[in-house]
Amino acid sequence: MRIFASLSIAVLALATFAGQSQTAVGQNASAQVALTPPMGWNSWNFFAGKVSDKDIRAAADQLVATGMKDAGYVYVNIDDTWEGERDANGVLHTNSKFPDMKALADYVHSKGLKIGIYSSPGPKTCAGFEASYNHEEQDAKLYAEWGIDYLKYDACSFIEQVMEKQAPNDKAEQMRMMRAAYAKMDKALKATGRPIVYSFCQYGMDAVWEWGPSAGGNLWRTTGDISPHWDRMYVILNEQAGLEKYAGPGHWNDPDMLEVGNGKLTLAENRLHFSMWAMLAAPLLAGNDLPNMKPEIKAILTNRDVIAIDQDPLGKQGSRAYSEGEVEVWTRHLAHGAMAIAVINAGDNRYSTHPFHLDLRKLGLAGEQTGKDLWTGKTVRLNQNEPLELASHDVLLVRVEKPVIASK
Ligand code: GLA
Repeated sequence: MRIFASLSIAVLALATFAGQSQTAVGQNASAQVALTPPMGWNSWNFFAGKVSDKDIRAAADQLVATGMKDAGYVYVNIDDTWEGERDANGVLHTNSKFPDMKALADYVHSKGLKIGIYSSPGPKTCAGFEASYNHEEQDAKLYAEWGIDYLKYDACSFIEQVMEKQAPNDKAEQMRMMRAAYAKMDKALKATGRPIVYSFCQYGMDAVWEWGPSAGGNLWRTTGDISPHWDRMYVILNEQAGLEKYAGPGHWNDPDMLEVGNGKLTLAENRLHFSMWAMLAAPLLAGNDLPNMKPEIKAILTNRDVIAIDQDPLGKQGSRAYSEGEVEVWTRHLAHGAMAIAVINAGDNRYSTHPFHLDLRKLGLAGEQTGKDLWTGKTVRLNQNEPLELASHDVLLVRVEKPVIASK
């Protein structure tokens, strides 16, 4: 515990340094939050429209009780369906599922956690509730008064009701409107003076990774919605290859929230999902039913070695080094010259006595590499053409502290 605590302080110090250099190269002040990818829990993937005040409190309690908070999960994020109606002054009220948002925020804060909320730049949210169109400043002020620490801003009806209506058939103008809408809420959030993590959710449209930071985004969804199915998760993973250069301290690619523990994902698939989101420096927002979490799911979500890959202070997203048939090899460069290597088997039914052979040269490495298998905790040695047997949809995740780099 103590080792971990001093490690986190060191990580924080380094991340702060990295964040400062980010600001120096022209990022806005929001680079001071989310210096490592945000970690927490979000209500949507499990509760969807049913979430209530009680579920949020239970999630906060469980983050503490399960040790997830100690492992780094701090944001408790309320997704869509908390919203009620606006009053005569335009002030938004909660619906009956959330009787007192300020009291709920106080409760979450009393646990040493932070709280997030959800809205849309359109008139309505994706689930058809009241959203922030033409009320941006008023809503941002309200969030700050409640003590909100994180906003997910989901395009939803802004596309049909605003962009397409006001600029029919003019894609360029529509996209300009989208950027302006995201920048407008950024300004409103900053005007509150409260540090609020700003999460864009517009499904990766218009190469958001290129303009997200200048519109104030701390993270931006790069894809449509995830679901708890291998196929969907794997498609999303593949869509991330090539986006690595856009991520860094204060501004992250978001391949969507975690489905670990949801649906019918196998243990191998849960491990692979978690490993690869860590390789991607993705936000780690658990989306499962925390009060009923199975021990093996908790073990995955609280694997500190894997979390340390995600939260590495260098903030350099991993990339796909190469693929060969159904096997893919990804690498991530970590602080102090360390490296993470992930080998995944995407094949459905592979059963073979003939192993996959790892080509270290394609990872820029030469000679024997000694590392730690982050799922077994054992030391592994990887040599050129290392024979690897991986079960279907499983992952080998290795951290190499001192990789032997190939000479050019
Ligand atoms: C969209 C988002 C989801 C979720 C729902 C809520 O689909 O992409 O993550 O927030 O809206 O309605």
